[in-house]
Amino acid sequence: MGPVLSTAGREFEMTDADFNRIRRLLKDRSGIDVGAGKRQLVYGRLTRRLRALNLRTFNDYLALVEDANADEARSFLNSLTTNVTELFREEHHFELLRERLVPEVTALGTRRLRIWSAGCSVGDEPYSIALTLASLPELSTWDLKILATDIDSEVLAQGREGVYQMDRIAKLKPNMRALFSRGVGSKTGLARAGDRLREMITFKQLNLLQDWPMSGPFDVIFCRNVIIYFDAPTKEQLVRRFSSLLRPGGYLLLGHSESPAAASAPLLESSGRTAFVRKASR
Ligand SMILES: C[S@@+](CC[C@H](N)C(=O)[O-])C[C@H]1O[C@@H](n2cnc3c(N)ncnc32)[C@H](O)[C@@H]1O
Repeated sequence: MGPVLSTAGREFEMTDADFNRIRRLLKDRSGIDVGAGKRQLVYGRLTRRLRALNLRTFNDYLALVEDANADEARSFLNSLTTNVTELFREEHHFELLRERLVPEVTALGTRRLRIWSAGCSVGDEPYSIALTLASLPELSTWDLKILATDIDSEVLAQGREGVYQMDRIAKLKPNMRALFSRGVGSKTGLARAGDRLREMITFKQLNLLQDWPMSGPFDVIFCRNVIIYFDAPTKEQLVRRFSSLLRPGGYLLLGHSESPAAASAPLLESSGRTAFVRKASR
């Protein structure tokens, strides 16, 4: 039998009350503030879950999401996060790593870098950081660690695999491409990030709204194209929490349309395009 169409000509009916309940649940659990205009997008993403679970109404589905004994809360979040990313997105931040951070840490003499990619999606951001660091021969003996976190368990699993279609790494410089191993046989057309890259990165699930187990300090925190989905008080609170985990002189890097409200970040000062440096402690 084909899909059952509701009176609105759709497979499932999503009432105003259903949509508002979805928005409230998503915001409470992840901070993601879905606008009223995103109804079609939300419908498209969640109907896959209704079909997979053989449910007929959003009401039944949302009861499952709210049921602490059911395991649907995770799939609900995974379905509604936006995971768009790419290698070397907003490239100026990787130049900052190379041209400012590394010389500054070299001058400090610590030979150690701790970098957090918060909201790392499938891993393009932490792999871009790892590629940048791994292609600097002078760092070959440094202690380099990248923490990559996201709320979405599916993207983290992909990140841990570190597998890319060849065409996605084709534009990288040859010395960076050499840090991937090419698939053969059934894996032809794929490339896997090599040990040097994968060993630098630890992927962990972390909801930015909840407690953070790390005490820092970090040299750099990337949180790009994540807080854009949050409301103003949540953004301000996060920027304050990020700045308290940076060492003095460490950088917070935000996405192209994001900036911290000055009042929320007394410890930060602007340091170039969407880059903010933690001031020395007073
Ligand atoms: C658009 S991607 C950004 C990826 C990468 N930072 C970039 O700029 O290319 C946003 C990511 O933020 C994650 N995210 C959303 N809300 C989150 C939360 N409360 N805690 C942790 N991660 C969250 C999503 O799962 C998604 O993978």
